[in-house]
Amino acid sequence: MKVLCDITEWRSLRRSLAGSVGFVPTMGAIHAGHTSLMTRSVTDNDVTVVSIYVNPTQFNNAGDLANYPGTLAEDLAACEAVGVDYVITPTYDDIYADGFRYQIDETRFSRELCGAHRKGHFTGVLTVVMKLLNIVHPDRAYFGEKDYQQFLLVRDMVDAFFMDVEIVACETVRERDGLALSSRNALLSCEARKRASKLHRLLRSLYSDAEVARKMAGVGFDVDYIVTTLGRRFVAASVDCGDHAVRLIDNVEHAN
Ligand code: PAF
Repeated sequence: MKVLCDITEWRSLRRSLAGSVGFVPTMGAIHAGHTSLMTRSVTDNDVTVVSIYVNPTQFNNAGDLANYPGTLAEDLAACEAVGVDYVITPTYDDIYADGFRYQIDETRFSRELCGAHRKGHFTGVLTVVMKLLNIVHPDRAYFGEKDYQQFLLVRDMVDAFFMDVEIVACETVRERDGLALSSRNALLSCEARKRASKLHRLLRSLYSDAEVARKMAGVGFDVDYIVTTLGRRFVAASVDCGDHAVRLIDNVEHAN
């Protein structure tokens, strides 16, 4: 596996690559959810590329960005173990040489669900994904269903801009109690982790969205939203961990 922190070097190397290229964009803090995307890419493609870049423009909260776990050595070992060929680790100046003057702004769905609670979040996500896709030039790019709204927005952006890449959605990887794997889970206190174990069952239950919201509040969640739409039930809620709160999101197929 080759690690490239120089984007110019990567772009000239990319021109020499033959065969299909699969791409998994990440912000590091790699867990089994990410490695399942990488494994899928390794199976589907001749070459797999991973990016590790904590994108500041998608954080609407400075504390959240500051607390984001940084674990580069472990992340690289995890990529290597599943057969990734290249990891690129761009810097802010590589990605935002334009000073974020150019932005991808989706004007409808990006304002709903998480977008209604995290102003500018999806503009940051779509802008960095567009840039990364243009840097990597993959045939396929892999996104987890845990961030289903992100997946839909990226898929539709690629269609809207006639980009030659297939966006592949991969199933959410869960703990035994159903908690969706997330880099944020590492920030949960023991007490908050116990509360979080209730989340998946409530989400899948036949209770109405309003009833689930009430029950979640009862176990100590501060609920941003619980909404059933597009055949799925989406949730975002924060759980108090003493000196900080951790915001969890999830979604499941749901007919409610
Ligand atoms: O899902 C993520 O980790 C990020 O939103 C992504 C797609 C890597 C863009 O920064």
